[in-house]
Formats: sequence, structure tokens, C-alpha cells
Amino acid sequence: MATILLLNGPNLNLLGSREKSIYGELTLDSISKTVEDKLADASIKLVTYQSNHEGYLVDRVQRALTESIALIIFNPAAYTHTSVALRDALLAVEIPFIEVHLSEPKEREAFRHISYFSDIALEVISGKGAMSYTDAAEAAINYLNKKD
Ligand code: DQA
Repeated sequence: MATILLLNGPNLNLLGSREKSIYGELTLDSISKTVEDKLADASIKLVTYQSNHEGYLVDRVQRALTESIALIIFNPAAYTHTSVALRDALLAVEIPFIEVHLSEPKEREAFRHISYFSDIALEVISGKGAMSYTDAAEAAINYLNKKD
């Protein structure tokens, strides 16, 4: 059974209360559960990790290699726009990943227009609220099915 890692960056633990007009009302737990159920229907296991710390996220990406994680669904949050360390970690482990955002960063402040991940991601899914995550789960299933 393939395993997918759902990885979330800083402040996403506050979903459900954080800037609801931008990020919606759903909590990260509830979004993760929906993704988990969708993947379970396709016989794929989900593991989740959220951290507010860049180094912990780097450690989690590196650990994914030892766990044979097949794919990462990643919302780097604010680190999207700053983190060479996380980009390098993803390149180092060579695990394919889908970049996800609830909002549409390209339609927001100029500093959000740059992503350190988009050019190396399998796909970027953004601007659909919680549905960005379920669409990413769908894309992940399709990718893994095609690969087998
Ligand atoms: C975000 C967009 C980022 O610009 C922001 O820093 C976040 C969340 C999103 O999901 O829309 O924390 O990644």
C-alpha cells in the first residue's frame, strides 16, 4: 500500500480561526480527514505533519525517504516565498510533490507571487480553499495509478 505525506507549514495549525475570509472555516484536522478518506478509497495510506518551524519541516522531508513515502502533498505556507532549505530538501529526497495553497498567492501581495517550489512541483493547486487539498489528493491518486 502506497503512503502519502500531507505536509503543512507555519500557521496552518490555526486554520478555522485564522483569517477566515481568506482561508475558510475548516480546521486542518477536518481537511486532513477528508484527504485521508479520499486516499483510503484508493487504498493509499496518509500520514500528516504540520510545523511552524522550517528545520522541523526539513527533517520531516528527509525522514520521508526512510519511510518510502510515494508522494508529498505540501502547503509550505509562508515558507513558499522564502525557503531555499525546503526546496533543497525536496530536491535531495527526489520524492514527487504537489504544491497546495488554499488562497491564490498570485492574486495577493507581490511578495507572495514568488514560489520556491512551483517549478519543481508535479503540479500546483491553489485558490480553491479546502478543495485545493482534495483536488491534490485526486491528482496524487492519478499520478500513482499511472506510475504503477
Ligand atoms: C498559503 C498562502 C501563503 O502565502 C501564506 O503565507 C499561507 C497560506 C495558502 O494556503 O493560501 O500561510 O500557503
